[in-house]
Amino acid sequence: MTDSEPHLLGDLEDLQDGEMRVFEDIGDYGIVVCRVDGELYAIEDNCSHADTPLSEGRLRSHNLTCPLHGTSFDVRTGEHSGPPAYEGVPCFKVKVEDGVAVAFPTSDGKNTNDGSGDVGGIFQTR
Ligand code: FES
Repeated sequence: MTDSEPHLLGDLEDLQDGEMRVFEDIGDYGIVVCRVDGELYAIEDNCSHADTPLSEGRLRSHNLTCPLHGTSFDVRTGEHSGPPAYEGVPCFKVKVEDGVAVAFPTSDGKNTNDGSGDVGGIFQTR
């Protein structure tokens, strides 16, 4: 993901705890927005291991598990839990103002992606 602009998500009041919503038009792979304990989080919808949509995985608490090989990603930071993925994914801060959610790409170093754009996938599933 190379852009650094905020992205308008709209009204996400109907997104319940434990649910996810994909915004396909943001960045190269889209982002997946998750609500956990009332808060909104967003990460790139693409596993850093082999280009699989993370939104097809399972969200448990703050961890979104890749459906293909099981690495989980912390939706608060984009950090990965371990192999087979060897790096995190880009994450976003989601802010809500006057009922409108906006996703801001982060650059605070909390996720482990170096921003090079090289996801290092061995194979691709899409
Ligand atoms: S594609 Fe996600 S862990 Fe392998």
